[in-house]
Amino acid sequence: MKIKNICCIGAGYVGGPTMAVIAQKCPEIDVTVVDINEKRIAAWNDEDVENIPVYEPGLPEVVKEARGKNLFFSTEVDAAIDKADMIFISVNTPTKTYGIGKGMAADLKWIELCARQIARVAKNDKIVVEKSTLPVRTAAALKDILDNTGNGVKYQILSNPEFLAEGTAIQDLKKPDRVLIGGDVETSEGKEAMEALVNIYASWVPRENILTTNVWSSELSKLTANAFLAQRVSSINAMSELCEKTGADVNEVAKAVGMDSRIGAKFLKSSVGFGGSCFQKDILNLVYIAKSFGLKEVADYWEQVIIMNDHQKRRFAANIVKTLYNTVSGKKIAVLGWAFKKDTNDTRESAAIYVADYLLNEHAEIVVYDPTVKEEQVYADLDYLNTRSSEENRSKVTVVKDAYVACEEAHAVAVLTEWDEFKELDWQTVYRNMLKPAFLFDGRRLLDRKTKEEVGFEYYAIGN
Ligand SMILES: NC(=O)c1ccc[n+]([C@@H]2O[C@H](COP(=O)([O-])OP(=O)(O)OC[C@H]3O[C@@H](n4cnc5c(N)ncnc54)[C@H](O)[C@@H]3O)[C@@H](O)[C@H]2O)c1
Repeated sequence: MKIKNICCIGAGYVGGPTMAVIAQKCPEIDVTVVDINEKRIAAWNDEDVENIPVYEPGLPEVVKEARGKNLFFSTEVDAAIDKADMIFISVNTPTKTYGIGKGMAADLKWIELCARQIARVAKNDKIVVEKSTLPVRTAAALKDILDNTGNGVKYQILSNPEFLAEGTAIQDLKKPDRVLIGGDVETSEGKEAMEALVNIYASWVPRENILTTNVWSSELSKLTANAFLAQRVSSINAMSELCEKTGADVNEVAKAVGMDSRIGAKFLKSSVGFGGSCFQKDILNLVYIAKSFGLKEVADYWEQVIIMNDHQKRRFAANIVKTLYNTVSGKKIAVLGWAFKKDTNDTRESAAIYVADYLLNEHAEIVVYDPTVKEEQVYADLDYLNTRSSEENRSKVTVVKDAYVACEEAHAVAVLTEWDEFKELDWQTVYRNMLKPAFLFDGRRLLDRKTKEEVGFEYYAIGN
């Protein structure tokens, strides 16, 4: 089976970059990315590729090459579904905020809407690919909806979770560690559908890096991978607190531990806590699934990763208050970095939001600078927490376009995203323009203690 036309529902951080790379690597396939968010689609179609809605190094170049040739962004969802042989579902699957499973289970509302829309529109057989991260066994629900509400056409459901990391998405997509494809391995139709997707990736990914499994293994592998990654961060963060009490340095511990080839050096960087749209949501989802099968110990084990992460964010903020003589009321705190990591404009679950919220509860005045995050996003993130009115957020938080301006007359600076440009700041100038003593809290272990102390800063870093 040769795929000629792909539709991807959801033009977000996954749908956009993933489809751009497929279009670039497979010029013979037409790829249409659709979304109900008109503003987002308009931004993807912006003449200046620097204005596309996802900030990701290397992405503008890929979009520029393929857009208008075999890569299209559109709001016409029905038309794209109708035309496609293969439909990727790449919509958001956030944690439920209501009802059963509130605060834990994945909200599959948008997934189900997609399935119903596909069923309504499709007039010929389709391969439906789960790109979104989903609870194990969602494929069965999708198949049920498609088979029972459809027009009598046949569907094959594949699971093809995305392992890209924001900030390095293009690199990850072009040279993935592995591509995982789950499908119905019991039937020839299932195997044929899997082979069709394997062939697409095989245009640029070595076959030995393309794994095929049954659907449930594929769905569960994505949750497992994110749980393992987040667990490493929480493990080293747990050690960072012990380091601070004992005089050990978490960077030295991480290096010594990571040189053990059984452990490996990656993902052992201590920080103010992990953020991003995935780790917390996917672990909570895993915890919920384990609980729903009555697996209390399994659920408790993974929940601890989240508990540790929340603790790390809180204790970082609490340390700022304690160090500033137990009060930050009326004090100006400069927050450098709002994105959840460098090289992205994504702020979902960013540690900065929670640290700022904590300090605002202590009546601090916050000034934020981030190279990619827009002012309205900072306010939207704080408003979403519902801790205080949006007027209060706007009166207590200022967003500026310059790191030096953010730090002027501040009592303290908190580095919350590891943007490279923060390393290059003229810290002497920053120091000169701050109130004294000038406190510097490094939530990312980004800066060098010795030089900052030589400048005159009271320097505090995680795990040191
Ligand atoms: N962001 C990541 O790094 C990452 C990595 C791997 C996997 N994932 C998973 O991929 C999925 C998508 O994540 P994302 O970060 O791209 O989300 P996102 O919120 O950036 O994008 C989702 C898009 O889907 C659109 N959408 C929702 N319902 C729709 C519908 N019925 N029809 C058309 N469009 C619709 C939304 O408007 C939104 O633009 C999630 O399940 C996530 O867990 C994300």
